[in-house]
Amino acid sequence: MGCALSGSGVVQDPTASEEKRCSLAEDGPDSGEEGQRQGDGKAPEALLLSEAQKALVQLSWEILHKDIARVGVIVFIRLFETHPECKDAFFLFRDIDDLQQLKMSRELQAHGLRVMSFIEKSVARLEQEEKLEQLAFELGRSHFRYKAPPKYYEYVGTQFIQAVQPILKEEWTPEVEKAWETLFRYLVATMRRGFYKEEKASGVNLSLSLRRAGADKTPNKI
Ligand code: HEM
Repeated sequence: MGCALSGSGVVQDPTASEEKRCSLAEDGPDSGEEGQRQGDGKAPEALLLSEAQKALVQLSWEILHKDIARVGVIVFIRLFETHPECKDAFFLFRDIDDLQQLKMSRELQAHGLRVMSFIEKSVARLEQEEKLEQLAFELGRSHFRYKAPPKYYEYVGTQFIQAVQPILKEEWTPEVEKAWETLFRYLVATMRRGFYKEEKASGVNLSLSLRRAGADKTPNKI
């Protein structure tokens, strides 16, 4: 998958080349020690959304929010199509192989709604950056407990953007896309920092063990 979220949502090492920054985003900090340290993040990321971009996100969300149940399912079905290994993190439906059957699963629908509710809360907090940061950081911490590694978070943003385009039709413009990319890039970077913070506190190198195992086959107790 390309570096779809390579917008300007996060302050990163200004000396890093674009290629390097994209490859960090693609592989994630779990792909190496350097990334581990970056994920530990001393400095929080800055939300680089202009007021105009915030308004674009808010206005498009007003149109989208009535479709969030559908969008939530589409996003995760596409995530599982493109990255089947992500399904292993979900104890409740990891054993359903048929994606058509999975689409009808109540658990998947409920999970999709939880994720979309998080996006809704994020949109509502665009003017309160501290609260937004706290929200995404805590979510990253809980994803450590869910054994859901950061390298996949950005794909949720990519799939979200693809899923909402047909709903917004002509309201979807390159500016709207850029604004959503920037928001997701920020959320993903903040979640990633939360994940590594929790990992460090736990003393368990989950990223490494998941990588070594290919995928952790121990069911999550969720
Ligand atoms: C931008 C990316 C993502 C967002 C915004 C997101 C959001 C959420 C939210 C809001 C919840 C509900 C529970 C809570 O609030 O702690 C949740 C749960 C969970 N997520 Fe994510 N998630 C993302 C990516 C992923 C990925 C890529 C995976 C798998 C590889 C994953 C696996 C899980 C699991 C296993 C749970 C617990 C089960 C459940 O609530 O159904 N998440 N996620």
